[in-house]
Amino acid sequence: MEQQPLLKVTNLKTHFFTDDGVVPAVDGVSFTVNVGETLAIVGESGSGKSVTSTSILRLVPSPPGRIIDGSIIFEDTDLLGKTEDEMQRIRGDRISMIFQEPMTSLNPVHRVGEQIAEAYRLHRGMDKHEAMQRAVRMLERVGIPSPEKRAGDFPHQLSGGMRQRVMIAIALSCRPALLIADEPTTALDVTIQAQILDLMRKLQEESRTSILLITHDLGVVAEMADRVIVMYAGKVVEEGDVAAIFKNPLHPYTRGLLGSIPRLDWRRRTILPSIEGVVPNPLEFPTGCRFNPRCPDAGAKCRESEPALKEMTGSQKVACWLMERGC
Ligand SMILES: Nc1ncnc2c1ncn2[C@@H]1O[C@H](COP(=O)(O)OP(=O)(O)OP(=O)(O)O)[C@@H](O)[C@H]1O
Ligand SMILES: [Mg+2]
Repeated sequence: MEQQPLLKVTNLKTHFFTDDGVVPAVDGVSFTVNVGETLAIVGESGSGKSVTSTSILRLVPSPPGRIIDGSIIFEDTDLLGKTEDEMQRIRGDRISMIFQEPMTSLNPVHRVGEQIAEAYRLHRGMDKHEAMQRAVRMLERVGIPSPEKRAGDFPHQLSGGMRQRVMIAIALSCRPALLIADEPTTALDVTIQAQILDLMRKLQEESRTSILLITHDLGVVAEMADRVIVMYAGKVVEEGDVAAIFKNPLHPYTRGLLGSIPRLDWRRRTILPSIEGVVPNPLEFPTGCRFNPRCPDAGAKCRESEPALKEMTGSQKVACWLMERGC
């Protein structure tokens, strides 16, 4: 099947200009999300996953954050050239986002039905009555029992899993082309997590939504994603089809992430295993490859200059001197 790009991020650089110095949180990141596919972003805490997603939505807190370079082409136009008004029309309509903790994005003083209805009024210009009818139907679609009654509940009256369903209902109400899901199931227990992932997959199939899925959980990646990018210290260190990367990880960091997972068992729920050492202080990233102080195989070249992301076999790309001929 021919792939059609929906989102093309090129050389994105989002830095934070703090009193202590410059944090290059996202530092030259490029990737594409195709129509209907799920691309996962994995990497340890602080690697720049969330800043990448808030950059796409232009929600980086500024100051201290600033997108200093790159382009974010979405449906053929660069989001970095849009005005705030234009971005407001895109958010919640063509691109929407779900977060780990619904309580932080649901409004505690408004009934959940009203919160879903608001998306229809804002982006589709529906009147109050019609918007509420659509909201109730959406609650039903995400599997909330007695949706008419539940529409009148406040967020605190619902369980964590139900709140996450409400967030998905809001996010998908206007049938976005792209859904950004930042750790959407991390706060939920395993059974509810499986239900929410099933729901996301079902809704994706129905409307060919593309998903950018950020997660620590390699089981979720295996379950949900077509392709994956691995981030380390603000950079993409490896990219490829999920099956290829799980079978043959090329970057020492990816190998470390996958290291403790039994080969044939990676569909089981698995949280990222830890790799020796810690993520470097972003105010003082090491020169050369940023992973070199933790890499078991680092040589002189790795400490001196930074490797670029290069295409290897098939779909796979890697940024590692050890993978280059003659090293
Ligand atoms: N408002 C801010 N001011 C200064 N630095 C920030 C700010 N927000 C994020 N950062 C820095 O940007 C870097 C990337 O953060 P980000 O939240 O993208 O990480 P992450 O990969 O999403 O981690 P996690 O898995 O913990 O969610 C971190 O070093 C973080 O400290
Ligand atoms: Mg994050």
